[in-house]
Amino acid sequence: MNPFLTKHIAPSPHVDAGEPVEGSLEGEATLRRVLTARHLVLLGIGGVIGAGIFVLTGQAAAQHAGPGIILSFVMAGFACALAGLCYAEFAAMMPVSGSAYSYSYATLGEGVAWFIGWNLILEYLFAASTVAVGWSGYMNSLLGSIGTWAGVSLALPDALASAPLTVANGRIVTTGAIINLPAILIVVAISALCYRGIRQSATANAVIVSIKLTVILLFVAFSLQYVDPANWQPFIPAEEDGRFGFQGVARAAAIVFFAYIGFDAVSTAAQETINPQRNMPIGILGSLAICTLVYIVVCAVLTGMVPYYELGTAKPVATALGFYPKLLWLKTVVEIGAVAGLTSVILVMIMAQARIFYAMAKDGLVSPAFGRAHPKFRTPGFGTIFVGVIATTLAGLLPIGVLGDLVSMGTLLAFATVCIGVLVLRYTRPDLPRAFRVPMAIVICPVGAAACLYLFAQTFADNWHWMSAWIVIGVLIYLFYGSKRSVLQKAHAAR
Ligand code: ALA
Repeated sequence: MNPFLTKHIAPSPHVDAGEPVEGSLEGEATLRRVLTARHLVLLGIGGVIGAGIFVLTGQAAAQHAGPGIILSFVMAGFACALAGLCYAEFAAMMPVSGSAYSYSYATLGEGVAWFIGWNLILEYLFAASTVAVGWSGYMNSLLGSIGTWAGVSLALPDALASAPLTVANGRIVTTGAIINLPAILIVVAISALCYRGIRQSATANAVIVSIKLTVILLFVAFSLQYVDPANWQPFIPAEEDGRFGFQGVARAAAIVFFAYIGFDAVSTAAQETINPQRNMPIGILGSLAICTLVYIVVCAVLTGMVPYYELGTAKPVATALGFYPKLLWLKTVVEIGAVAGLTSVILVMIMAQARIFYAMAKDGLVSPAFGRAHPKFRTPGFGTIFVGVIATTLAGLLPIGVLGDLVSMGTLLAFATVCIGVLVLRYTRPDLPRAFRVPMAIVICPVGAAACLYLFAQTFADNWHWMSAWIVIGVLIYLFYGSKRSVLQKAHAAR
């Protein structure tokens, strides 16, 4: 076994709709190539704007950064922009479904590729579950609001809408609740949609994204008049008990990094995209630019409307609106936007995870069942069902806080690896045609990797035991399963 073996990349042919794609020449069903640049930008926005802004921002501002949360979003956005440029170069050059996993396989070797594939499970699968738990909270509260308006009781009791397990003092304990039913139902419904087809998923995503962007626009438009610049003073509250100050802004940047996760999922749709050489960079960078702008504006309005220390709730947008009786009608609208926002995040995450498994199965690193496309729907059928079942189980049992940091840490490692991979490939394969090139790669790539690792370090101290356990399990699976079934290792041994 040699974990440093790299997969050869052949220059990618220019692929448009209707042209044969990988595998089809042998009569095997393949993924359907139908997505356009517009679909990709919408998938990016669909995957990005969700729990990060609707749930996490308030706590991060109240406990770590104050109005400096705006700066935290700029910091996290800066790291993502650099990583986004690197993703764009790779996704245009290697339009495959494996994203950072496949890019690492081609540059840093099978061992690193497995490690990144394993961390992408933390990103996509665990994010789908985490966000489903947030979805359940917002949905139940929306049902409560509609019920009040209609004079009936619609909200589910806590026992049926919250996690039966939680982590206290490093131990898993029961909460008394039975199951988080709404979280389970949403994951099942979205998995069924992803199973049915990529076109159907992209269309549903486009509708949902329109709803959430409209709601955010309404929030900003109506709340702007209540912004009082005095609330932005001091912009970064003085450091106290290890909170606030510059360190607090950096810690908050690591927390709100979660809000940016998802633009990279666009790259997992490369194998289903028409003219990926042109459309991938538009999808990845376009969605990231729009989301960054939305985040900075929303944070500026939120922290301008109310003193930052009032925002430390699980529903900061609704909390801020609660201060202004004339804006109370917007609370229900925001709840609808949050439910929509979180729905599309779940969709994009489940879609992406099934495609990562699809790529890993083609390389023999996970069971071949994950690598078969559904003969009629041309989606990774088995992978989608598998992801749905695991995400349903996690979402039905665990609370939101447990997985959030792990999701960010897995993603940051993937981002750092992609930044390094771009630079490595510039030297090892300068001959490959690159439809999009990271400008000044010699500077952007190392700075991008350093920025991501800096944010990773912010959360590692609190979560090192969970992260280390995850890595050890991954290494064992690679040693005893992946490396023994790897197509590349077998081909190398046969030489
Ligand atoms: N960025 C996604 C969210 O904030 C994961 O929900």
